Amino acid sequence: AWSKVPQGPPDAILGITEAFKADSFKEKINLGVGAYRDDQGKPYVLPSVRTAEDKVVASRSDKEYAGITGIPAFTKAAAELAYGANSSAITEDRLVITQTISGTGALRIGGAFFERFYPGAKKIYLPNPSWANHNAVFKDSGLEVEKYRYYNKDTIGLDFEGLIADIKAAPNNSIILLHACAHNPTGVDPTQDQWRQISDVMKQKGHFAFFDMAYQGFASGNADQDAFAPRHFVKEGHNIALCQSFAKNMGLYGERVGAFSLVCENSEEKKRVESQIKILIRPFYSNPPIHGARVASTIMNDPALNEQWLGEVKGMADRIIEMRSLLRKNLESLGSKHDWSHITSQIGMFAFTGLKPEQMDALAKEHSVYATKDGRISVAGITSANVKRLAESIYKVTG
Ligand code: LMR
Repeated sequence: AWSKVPQGPPDAILGITEAFKADSFKEKINLGVGAYRDDQGKPYVLPSVRTAEDKVVASRSDKEYAGITGIPAFTKAAAELAYGANSSAITEDRLVITQTISGTGALRIGGAFFERFYPGAKKIYLPNPSWANHNAVFKDSGLEVEKYRYYNKDTIGLDFEGLIADIKAAPNNSIILLHACAHNPTGVDPTQDQWRQISDVMKQKGHFAFFDMAYQGFASGNADQDAFAPRHFVKEGHNIALCQSFAKNMGLYGERVGAFSLVCENSEEKKRVESQIKILIRPFYSNPPIHGARVASTIMNDPALNEQWLGEVKGMADRIIEMRSLLRKNLESLGSKHDWSHITSQIGMFAFTGLKPEQMDALAKEHSVYATKDGRISVAGITSANVKRLAESIYKVTG
C-alpha cells in the first residue's frame, strides 16, 4: 500500500539529535534541541519537580481520565502564572483554558480552533524566522502561513521598522503569531516600549494576537517580567490566544505539559468557546495525560514549592547567561575578528550566531558540534568543560 510514499527529510531540530547520537567521537557537543543541561552536560530534573513527584506518588492517586480540558487545579494555576491572578480575564471569568500536549499541542489545538471558527481570513503571520515547527503546525491545522519581518541580519537584532510596516500592511483582522519572550531561534525580543507600540498598531488594525510562550522565566529569570507582553495586550483590551509550555521552565519535556487559552469578551462567550474546544479535542486524543500536570500543579499550588521552583528557573537562566559570556570571551581571546556581542545581548535558551549553513555543516562534520542549520545554538548545551573546544571549533569555521 505504501509503495508511493516518498522518503521525507529528517526533522530540522529533532533530526540533529539523531545525527549527534550516531557520532562516536567522545567529545561531541549537542547544541541542537533546546533542552537544558547542567554544567556536567547532564539532563536536569529540577529539585522542586522531584519533591512534587514524590508527593504525587505518595498521594496514591487513581489513574482515572482527566476531563477533556485536563486537570482544573493545573489549568487554574497555569492561567494565573501566565496572566497574573488579578488579570481581568480571570476575575471576570472570561478565560477559556485547556491542558495540552505541551506547547506543540497548544499550538495545534489553537490552529485547529482558528481554522474552524476564526471569522476573518484563515491565515497566520509568523515572524521571520520563527520556530521551525510553527510552519508545519499551522499548515497541518489548515491555516495559510505568511511571514512578517522580524530579524535584521546586519544588526543581528530586531527589525522593528520592518515588523511594524509588515503588520500595518497585513489586511485588517489578521492573525499575528508573537513569541511572548525569548524568541526562538533568534534570542531577540522587542523591548517593553516596542511591545506597547506593537499592541497599539495591532489594535488599530483589528489584528488578533496569538502568543506562543514556551520560555516563561527563561528570558529574564523572572516569570512575571517574561509575561509582560501577553499581560499588556490583555490590559489593552486584546482578546488574545496563548500557548504555554512547561517543558523548559519546569524541565518537564517528555511529560508533555502545556496549556492553550483564549481570552473571551465575557463569560457567556467563554462557555460557548469552551464547549467547542472540547468538541475539537475529543476526537484528537480524548483527554490529556495526567502525571506531568499533577506534578506541575503540585508545584504551583504549594507556595513554598512554587517559590523554590521560581528560584530554580532563575538558576537555569543564570547558568545560560554565564555560558554566553564564557563563549564570547573564549572567541575573543582566540583573536576572532568577528563581533560576537550578540551572543551576550540575545536572551533565552538560544544564540543565533549568524553562522551560515555551510559553516554549520563544517561544525558537525569536522568538529562534531551539532546544531541547527540556521546558525542557532542551544546555549543550554554549553558547559564550563566544553566551551573552549566549542569556541575553537567556531573560530576555525568562521576564520
Ligand atoms: C527547540 O526549538 O529546540 C525546542 O522547542 C524543542 C523542539 O521541540 O523543537
